[in-house]
Amino acid sequence: MLESLRTIDDNVKKWMKEVRVKVIASFNDDLDVKTKSGPNDLVTNIDREVEEFYKDKIKKYYPGSEIIGEESAHEVRKPKNEGLLWVIDPIDGTMNFVKQKNHFASMIAIYRKGTAIRGYIYDVMQDKLYWGGPEIGVYCNQDKIEPPSDKKLNKGLFGVGAPLLIDNYHNLQKAALESCGTRIYGCSGIQFIHVLNGQCVAYISYLRPWDYAAGKVLAETLDLVVKTIDGRPIDMLSSSDVLVATKNAQKDITRIVQSTY
Ligand code: IPD
Ligand code: CA
Ligand code: CA
Repeated sequence: MLESLRTIDDNVKKWMKEVRVKVIASFNDDLDVKTKSGPNDLVTNIDREVEEFYKDKIKKYYPGSEIIGEESAHEVRKPKNEGLLWVIDPIDGTMNFVKQKNHFASMIAIYRKGTAIRGYIYDVMQDKLYWGGPEIGVYCNQDKIEPPSDKKLNKGLFGVGAPLLIDNYHNLQKAALESCGTRIYGCSGIQFIHVLNGQCVAYISYLRPWDYAAGKVLAETLDLVVKTIDGRPIDMLSSSDVLVATKNAQKDITRIVQSTY
């Protein structure tokens, strides 16, 4: 039986609101902060608790689902893609969460039999949930978003991940200079939102599946392009550089990148 997408939307929205309450309550307590791959890669007790919360709900309401969660990614096996697959980033932008108590997101993407059907990016502190999928479009809370205008790179701002810009990855500095300016927020979910709502014409960073899964389905629903910097497709489980952009900005960026070969 096909699960009703409307019921899934209602459930995920309810879970995310509960997460907001938990997260805000946590500001009164001492966070348990640990490092993962390096000093700038953090995980807190809240990241883990939020992931467990989502996983418990999914197992209860959608038994048989496959789940990929950032904080339990060591358990991940290649999905069978027979039913629902949930990809979870419980707190995206953990460094911002710890240092700023702002500018972080909670994200879920859902695939059915290997096809992306839903993305949810919740800007927790702004209380703005960007959600939707191919057959219904994209909403910010209750309001439907129109596809952003197809601006060229030199007509808009370019969101970037700091390491790629500093390393001049694929001549990225030249592309950055052709834009109206670069913006670095340290949270892929928030940076995807800026492209979805037209505040930036592009965003690029090196990302893992849970960092871009929700953003990719929302962006593609709005006719934006999500590819690697040199125009290759991104599958559901790659870790790679990920560029989300208007069609025109993507062409401009790819041209600049290829001019260095
Ligand atoms: C990180 C953020 C950051 C991006 C990193 C991600 P996390 O996610 O989205 O913006 O540049 O690559 O790992 O670890 O805070 O969920
Ligand atoms: Ca995370
Ligand atoms: Ca993340």
